[in-house]
Amino acid sequence: MTTRTARRSMATRSKSSQRWLKEHFSDPYVKKAQAEGLRSRAAYKLEELVERDRLLKPGMVVVDLGAAPGGWSQWLRQALLALYPANPGRIVALDILEMPTLAGVEFLHGDFREDAVLSALEGALGSQQVDLVLSDMAPNKSGMDAVDQPRMMHLAELAMEFADRHLRIDGTLLIKLFQGVGFDDYVRELRRHYAKVAIRKPDASRKRSPEVYALALGKLSAPKLSAPKLSHPKSPAGP
Ligand SMILES: C[S@@+](CC[C@H](N)C(=O)[O-])C[C@H]1O[C@@H](n2cnc3c(N)ncnc32)[C@H](O)[C@@H]1O
Repeated sequence: MTTRTARRSMATRSKSSQRWLKEHFSDPYVKKAQAEGLRSRAAYKLEELVERDRLLKPGMVVVDLGAAPGGWSQWLRQALLALYPANPGRIVALDILEMPTLAGVEFLHGDFREDAVLSALEGALGSQQVDLVLSDMAPNKSGMDAVDQPRMMHLAELAMEFADRHLRIDGTLLIKLFQGVGFDDYVRELRRHYAKVAIRKPDASRKRSPEVYALALGKLSAPKLSAPKLSHPKSPAGP
């Protein structure tokens, strides 16, 4: 990169980061989160998604993947305590980044792609089956779709595999996805494993973000068979 190109790209980047900061501090969900003492505006996405489908149940076991800085776990713990004070259930949260302690939330620090981290999560669950798997995991964005999208899909695949193994029958998986390459196949696969799959874009999700949430309800005891591929037999040779 020439010095002039580098200077131009730094100027563009600083303009876009200035725009981001301006947008961030005038964002009503950021203001609301600050006023309500929530760790992130992302909590309002979860609130909308959970309340619409009444996903909370007494004594439920929830796994929150990609939990830092903790807005989802924090909101969830408060909501479960308010609804079921005698039996608020259990929340196990995990992130590759450190997360300050939250009362009533067990936290595991590690990279979900690593076998040792998955084993630690499985160890923490013991023999308990999970009622709700949440994944708000997203890789650090490089800004290049060809890099970010496969990384995102990889995390989503791992979360689906985890839900296959640890979610109880009839349980729910709520997962963030980016619309792009691999999205349709992923949703098709979810539809094989769950009774109902809806794609949601909560109000607090920024309009220009490619993120949407797949809500997969009613895990099936066995996946549905894939739709048979249509074969196109060659027409017999003519006379
Ligand atoms: C959008 S943030 C989650 C925000 C969170 N739901 C909240 O309400 O505060 C996405 C998170 O995914 C985490 N993440 C990304 N890759 C991960 C990985 N391989 N293992 C675990 N966490 C990961 C990031 O560190 C980041 O904290």
